[in-house]
Amino acid sequence: MKKAAVILDRDYTIAPIDPRLFGSFIEHLGRAVYGGIYEPSHPTATPEGFRQDVMGLIRKLRIPVIRYPGGNFVSGFRWEDSIGPKESRPRRLDLAWDTTETNEVGLHEFVSFCRQVDSEVMYAVNLGTRGPENAKDIVEYCNHPSGTKWSDLRIQNGAAEPFNIRLWCLGNEMDGPWQMGQKTAYEYGRAANEAAKLMKWVDPSIELVACGSSSSMMPTFGDWELTMLNECYDNVDYVSLHRYYGKTNMDTPTFLASTMDLEDFIRTVASICDAVKGKKHSKKKLNLSFDEWNVWYHSHGQDAELRKEKKWGQALPLLQDIYTLEDALLAGSMLLTFLRNADRVKIACLAQLVNVIAPIMTRNGGPSWCQTIFYPFLHVSNYGRGTALNVLVDTPVYDCREYEKVPVVDAAATVDSTGNVTVFCVNRDLQEDCVLKLDLRSFSSLSKLEHICLTHSDPLAVNTEENPDNVVPHSEKPLFSEDGTFEVRLSPLSWNVLRITD
Ligand code: AHR
Repeated sequence: MKKAAVILDRDYTIAPIDPRLFGSFIEHLGRAVYGGIYEPSHPTATPEGFRQDVMGLIRKLRIPVIRYPGGNFVSGFRWEDSIGPKESRPRRLDLAWDTTETNEVGLHEFVSFCRQVDSEVMYAVNLGTRGPENAKDIVEYCNHPSGTKWSDLRIQNGAAEPFNIRLWCLGNEMDGPWQMGQKTAYEYGRAANEAAKLMKWVDPSIELVACGSSSSMMPTFGDWELTMLNECYDNVDYVSLHRYYGKTNMDTPTFLASTMDLEDFIRTVASICDAVKGKKHSKKKLNLSFDEWNVWYHSHGQDAELRKEKKWGQALPLLQDIYTLEDALLAGSMLLTFLRNADRVKIACLAQLVNVIAPIMTRNGGPSWCQTIFYPFLHVSNYGRGTALNVLVDTPVYDCREYEKVPVVDAAATVDSTGNVTVFCVNRDLQEDCVLKLDLRSFSSLSKLEHICLTHSDPLAVNTEENPDNVVPHSEKPLFSEDGTFEVRLSPLSWNVLRITD
């Protein structure tokens, strides 16, 4: 049996946690919208056609912001197609995913959906095939009260009050050759700057996210951030980061260590922001929006086939990764990394939310269920609000194919507004239990500990429609608890939530 220890002190904090760290993402892709959130013929459908069973699960996740409508989809999207009477909306080829978009669900419907799940929209404009003027128009449509072409059209389309969308993405992954209208860093920086100026002139209260690299693996990573920020630093508020991990040709210890490079990615982008700040003698600090993150690899092969076979089909079952216990542990470690970097990462979007690399799955006409990755997100979103604490972890380490000295126990901690503490941790060991000692020192008034654990004897265990409760959290009893000191047993390959209250 292994041993580890965590020390926390109420004075050693990292930063307040921005609730938008628990954001998510819905793209017009696969069955995310059609058959995911929207299915008018479903027995639970609202008069607008939204599935109430899915909305119920989304509400449990307490998602404050949902990025929309893409993703790759947005680089060829005309937002005007998605407003007005449904019967007059055009059907278009979506060149990003080789499918057909009917525009049956559009801007007004999505705003209404978000309101019903207590979320706000984070809207991505098209800076691929379109430009600053078009980006300005949609801000006017959404946020200007009335008396102009676009705001009056919104009113005519049934929304008397502005949508007041606060957060906007200036395109998506514009460094990628898979985008329509891919740009060099300089071209993108110029377009983003001009779009940002016009959008903020229409509504100065909005916040804007500039596209960082589509991953740290891109050959242009680093130079892209430096060059484009040089052009748009003064007019944007956040830089985006995207990262998906996969397990192709990898053993479990290496896969679970994947997040070892995430901290470095975050710190590198933050340093580049600060370098540009220095160069420009600016007083403004840019923060980070990790607006796409997840595990994504199970569906790669089958998607390539499906896109070829059913080219221009509608709502194809694309990116339907079925997540294992291991995947949930890695998703958990990604969340822990965001909490530990809460001083800089202010927005993060689990990509995506329903059916497409998602925590929630549905069958058309049938039930919805939770994948393994649903649970770490549920726990951190519900119990990880407040302030991130500096965690001192004394843990055994291991070496694997790509990394050395990987902590066996990966941990993060938070204190909420009532003074209750939550420690989240992953035991990456395949075989051994780990006894974890918690030393809470200045939190000694907290005497109760609740231990929630997600594990399974099979690392590849999944939840399915037939067996939706195969991998679900259960309670564990603490081994020891006295005067601010606790001991718990972390099962091999487990996700753990330790809630310490008075
Ligand atoms: O989330 C799936 C895709 O991943 C998004 O459309 C794109 O932005 C990223 O490459």
